[in-house]
Amino acid sequence: MCGIVGAVTERPVNKILIEGLKRLEYRGYDSAGVALAQEGELHTVKAVGKVANLESKLELAAVKGTTGIAHTRWATHGGVTEANAHPHVSKGQLALVHNGIIENHSSLREALKGDGYEFVSETDTEVMVHLIHQLREQHDSLLASVQAAVKQFEGAYGTVVFDKANPDEIIVARSGSPLVIGLGLGENFIASDQLALLAVTRRFIFLEEGDVARVTRESVEIYNRTGERVERNIIESTANQDNTGKGEYRHYMLKEIYEQPMAVRNTLEDRLDGSRVAVKAFGERATEIFKDVKHVQIIACGTSYHSGMVARYWLEQFAGISCNVEIASEFRYRQSYVHENSLLVTISQSGETADTLAALRLAKEQGYMASMTICNVASSSLVRESDLAFMTKAGAEIGVASTKAFTTQLVGLLMLTAAIAQEKGLNAEHIVNAVKSLPMKLEEALQLANGIETLAEEFADKHHSLFLGRGSQYPIAMEGALKLKEISYIHAEAYAAGELKHGPLALIDADMPIIVVAPNNELLEKLKSNVEEVRARGGIIYVFADKASHFESDNTMRVVRVNHVEDIIAPVVYTIPLQLLSYYVAVIKGTDVDQPRNLAKSVTVE
Ligand code: F6R
Repeated sequence: MCGIVGAVTERPVNKILIEGLKRLEYRGYDSAGVALAQEGELHTVKAVGKVANLESKLELAAVKGTTGIAHTRWATHGGVTEANAHPHVSKGQLALVHNGIIENHSSLREALKGDGYEFVSETDTEVMVHLIHQLREQHDSLLASVQAAVKQFEGAYGTVVFDKANPDEIIVARSGSPLVIGLGLGENFIASDQLALLAVTRRFIFLEEGDVARVTRESVEIYNRTGERVERNIIESTANQDNTGKGEYRHYMLKEIYEQPMAVRNTLEDRLDGSRVAVKAFGERATEIFKDVKHVQIIACGTSYHSGMVARYWLEQFAGISCNVEIASEFRYRQSYVHENSLLVTISQSGETADTLAALRLAKEQGYMASMTICNVASSSLVRESDLAFMTKAGAEIGVASTKAFTTQLVGLLMLTAAIAQEKGLNAEHIVNAVKSLPMKLEEALQLANGIETLAEEFADKHHSLFLGRGSQYPIAMEGALKLKEISYIHAEAYAAGELKHGPLALIDADMPIIVVAPNNELLEKLKSNVEEVRARGGIIYVFADKASHFESDNTMRVVRVNHVEDIIAPVVYTIPLQLLSYYVAVIKGTDVDQPRNLAKSVTVE
């Protein structure tokens, strides 16, 4: 989603800002802009589309500055236009960028208009810069006027503002949208993600909710939500900036699909102790919590929600405890029942998803015994705010469509299942042994790529598709459908195969490909009956099936044979061919695979 980069230095900041924005490009955006201060002048340059457009315009404009802020915008309020792109400016004096949504923007806008402020955009953000400007008259510093302004903002913001009259300072404020300060020598930086600043520093301060900070070349002053001066820890980042290259691959998504065996290996490393899970991988208090837990409530969004759905099958079958799974945006707005000794588990690649974070904060007031997150970003809000955390070690995921983050989440959830089973005195050895074979099984599944690439051609002219699975493969069918729709723009739905005759059978015809996930397990015969129901109605079927499943290719059925795999890890392995199918269909259709239209990598607004 939107990205922020800022710098207060003695050297020209253009390159730092543009490089920072490029590192955030993968998150998804539709316009970009920069504001620079130099010698009492404020320069603003904006462009619709890619950061490269902004870069060219900036070069043409031949403006420079030693203090600057920059932004990539993912439109929420107002269309994709230069006028709506950030930075927004008030009275030619203050420039501001913002991530998040100001929910009370309409009333603020009316009041500010009444006071003579002229609005040039349709955004919610523009009220922020005008309000800060208005409050500047009543306060003796920009810091104080920002502190006063944030009291009036309802919603979420990570925001950065500076005054051309005092370009040696930038003021930043965080509530609901992450911001990190990067520390340099005689220069300091700000960004919505440390990744943007790895070329200039490795030392970071992660702002906390409600913080407002004054950042100059030489100093950083932080004030908490009650206005007290506070110290925040300086973290030395170990993030790898080289992760951001595509290497020999055509797209990040393909690279990340192929990285999955390694990502799973990394996620398992040091987390197994012979045939047991090393419970401390979940945090200091994990053993005591897992002993007492009687129920698990999983909360997540999108792909992460699908991994949670798979975990429900595992936890109930292998750890013998009940489990509910809910989409964060639903959970946070209803009165839910909290079971006795219930553990709240959030799952998130980014750790910053607005709805998931809000659900965690809500749940903390509701009497859960503890909270835990399964997450890929150690410095994220979800990790910092949860009692326990299991870090997936997928490495940076750049493709907007989640692949290796999903499979490593599944590994984390299998480890959670085994850890709880272990602490309850159940035998979890079979889970651990199966998990150990995963990297090799994933390598084998990747070898299906060529056949799937050929198959993908049959999807190029299709507008709709149906994915079917049963048991723990039902969520995998859902994940397959999500992947196909988000990167190829083909409408895809997933159904538990037993539900077919309750409605969706009406859709079946030769133009509707049916994708079936069919490992050789106790549900296979049931699934075969469902497949026959589709065949009888003229549907073309694409089956991903175990070699021993006895499906044969013919004129209505294409069979992709997957090596035999133990049922417990089959959801992880069968994910791979579905990812490959979506990828190759998208490539054939010529879509922007890594940055599909309208989508963002880190969904920091609700
Ligand atoms: C789809 C995808 C999204 C995310 C969802 C939650 O490929 O990536 O559905 O899974 O936006 O994001 P995280 O996992 O960061 O909480």
